Amino acid sequence: MNIIKVENNEALSEKAADMIEDTLHAKENPVLGLATGSTPERLYEILQKRCHDGKVSFQHATTFNLDEYIGLAGDNPNSYRQFMNEKLFNGIDIQKENTHIPNGVAEDPDKEAIDYEKKLADAGKIDLQILGIGLNGHIGFNEPGSDVKSRTQVVDLAESTIEANARFFNSMDEVPTQAITMGIGTIMEASKIILLVQGEKKAEILSKVLHGDVTSDVPASFLQMHKDVTIITDIDA
Ligand code: GLP
Repeated sequence: MNIIKVENNEALSEKAADMIEDTLHAKENPVLGLATGSTPERLYEILQKRCHDGKVSFQHATTFNLDEYIGLAGDNPNSYRQFMNEKLFNGIDIQKENTHIPNGVAEDPDKEAIDYEKKLADAGKIDLQILGIGLNGHIGFNEPGSDVKSRTQVVDLAESTIEANARFFNSMDEVPTQAITMGIGTIMEASKIILLVQGEKKAEILSKVLHGDVTSDVPASFLQMHKDVTIITDIDA
């Protein structure tokens, strides 16, 4: 694994933006895997600015997000669809129909997951996958115990993840307990992966990812087996 240590979140976001820009320039029809969470927010702002300034274009790009909460429609303010529209898609020149996020209110979520996997296969390989990491080592919503070969599927969220997400909702009853997530196997098929790790609270889990065993107890540790992973981390983490 290639590790880039930078001063702060600004430098981390600039570095990741550079790598995305390289992919956008190198490929005729680039396929990007995108993540939500607070970590990539600044990265998405920078990409909007670069697009506005004419440095990059997403016109021929296709994107696939890692995950979506079950039970939240795309117009729900807490849905990952809303997050992506607001933080990135509305501010760049991407064609909305080329942005893919699982539908959290699909009538048959299991079928939605299978269909999502098919759409991914039709688009070809993900050229560059952006990942954040949960405090328990989850990537996407692949919680501890996830299988290395897992594909896009419906998953139960860990108790600690539900608690961590509670801050975005009015009451505990509203916090989703399930999600549709790309599997570990799906993520591992990306040609190139960037894992963004920011803040002191991620230091302990990052140490396990870097120096610990490859184990489903720490899903991000499976990245040790991928041939092209770059971890961009700030000093705090
Ligand atoms: C959620 C997302 C993950 C993300 C994680 C960390 O659980 N499903 O993809 O990596 O949050 O979020 P943050 O960057 O806010 O710490």
